[in-house]
Amino acid sequence: MCTLGACSHSGLSGTWLLRAPHQDGTFRESFLQLSQQGNKLTGSVTYNYRKAEISDGTVEGNKFHFVVGNARRQRTFEGSLEGDHLTVHESSANGRNSGSGEATRSTEEAMAPPKPQPLPALHDVPDNGLARTPPMGWNSWNHFHTAIDDKTVREMADAMVTSGMKDAGYIYINIDDAWELEHDAGGNIVPNKKFPDMKALADYVHSKGLKIGIYSSPGPKTCGGYEGSFGHEKADAEMYAKWGIDYLKYDWCSAGAIYKDADMRPVYQVMGDALKATGRPIVFSLCQYGREDVWTWGAKVGGNSWRTTGDISDNWKSMSTIGFKQLSIAPYAKVGHWNDPDMLEIGNGGMSDEEYRTHMTLWSMLRSPLLAGNDVRSMSDATKAILMNKEVIAIDQDSLGAPAQLAKTEGDVEIWIRPLQGSATGLAFFNKGDQPAQAKLSWSEVKLKKPKKARDLWSHKDVKLSSDGYSAKVPAHGTVLLKVQ
Ligand code: GLA
Repeated sequence: MCTLGACSHSGLSGTWLLRAPHQDGTFRESFLQLSQQGNKLTGSVTYNYRKAEISDGTVEGNKFHFVVGNARRQRTFEGSLEGDHLTVHESSANGRNSGSGEATRSTEEAMAPPKPQPLPALHDVPDNGLARTPPMGWNSWNHFHTAIDDKTVREMADAMVTSGMKDAGYIYINIDDAWELEHDAGGNIVPNKKFPDMKALADYVHSKGLKIGIYSSPGPKTCGGYEGSFGHEKADAEMYAKWGIDYLKYDWCSAGAIYKDADMRPVYQVMGDALKATGRPIVFSLCQYGREDVWTWGAKVGGNSWRTTGDISDNWKSMSTIGFKQLSIAPYAKVGHWNDPDMLEIGNGGMSDEEYRTHMTLWSMLRSPLLAGNDVRSMSDATKAILMNKEVIAIDQDSLGAPAQLAKTEGDVEIWIRPLQGSATGLAFFNKGDQPAQAKLSWSEVKLKKPKKARDLWSHKDVKLSSDGYSAKVPAHGTVLLKVQ
């Protein structure tokens, strides 16, 4: 077995830095640690400080081929040794981030994450007074992933106004990952060429009566491998304020290679303080996938919301698994500080309208941020009716502050209850099953007197109640949502 470096010039063996250019002027950087024995290739690929072992590595002449990762996240590398460099083509099973690049000889030291920054003593960052109701807006990630640019953000801002989304309360236009290039010699964060002028973009979004959000990480790299804020927290916060940014999503990502999970609170506090010090009102959205019981300390680092889960995907299993496990932490959501079960997938095409209505109802009963994640330039009428159902949005934004609770489970149906302003109550009948189901809630089961009035918030009709309770027929994966008075 070659120790890397010791055999750095024997064929493919050694440590290589692969840089595959993206169209935005950034590079996808991975370290290849290769060990060649005859026509067999072993080793690992390290991306964003995460190492994955090579399997099925073969060499034929000057050509090689190998794969890394498990079946779901498999990446294939193929290429050839050309003099003192490799030309490599990398592709992934899901088609994202495929590309070609050149690898040059590197060292094991170059792969190592930077040393941690000294962590501050804990204190409570004062409440910034924002997000008195769960933030509403749009975020680029779920639909566009890294393919987001200035033009699309402007078009989205236009569409938020013309579609009625703005009037329905969706105010924030949030750019997620893939806007970053690097920190320049003066330590200023510079956007990549997809975002030629961030200040002008913010001005444009503001001119539409909307607000603008951005994304970063406490690590050196974001989850997409772009430049993070590590060591530049204060300067980055100041730059965001200078551009006119109103919202920051701050995503743990590669900070995990430097800090322990137990350090999350002081690490997030650094950015909470930096944002506060700018004097600009900037919503602070924590994203660390619900680790370390973030709902117990997220508000103390100045967080206006904190992700409570890993990433959502546009399918029933992902959405329902997330949505139905949020009730136990619902009491931690408070005015200005919200649980965030991730952004909406409504309108992205992977679920039925029935399922998307359930998605919207779950998030609203939970008082979650409502961040649309679809292409608002081309919404179907059904998508519009779901995202802009003002009666359901009012449940999300209701300011009474009492959490939803599970009232009853009957077969596949979960019945949730939530006290609302004006002596009203929200009642949601969720059918998790694959068949339509009937379920009944007796008033006595939830210690309610027979309500005087009831309205079905999806059919937009007043409904008649019987004296003993309400029996709902709920479609498969569907929801009946009532507001009773
Ligand atoms: C993580 C986050 C996502 C998104 C991506 C961007 O996976 O959880 O919401 O921001 O990073 O790379």
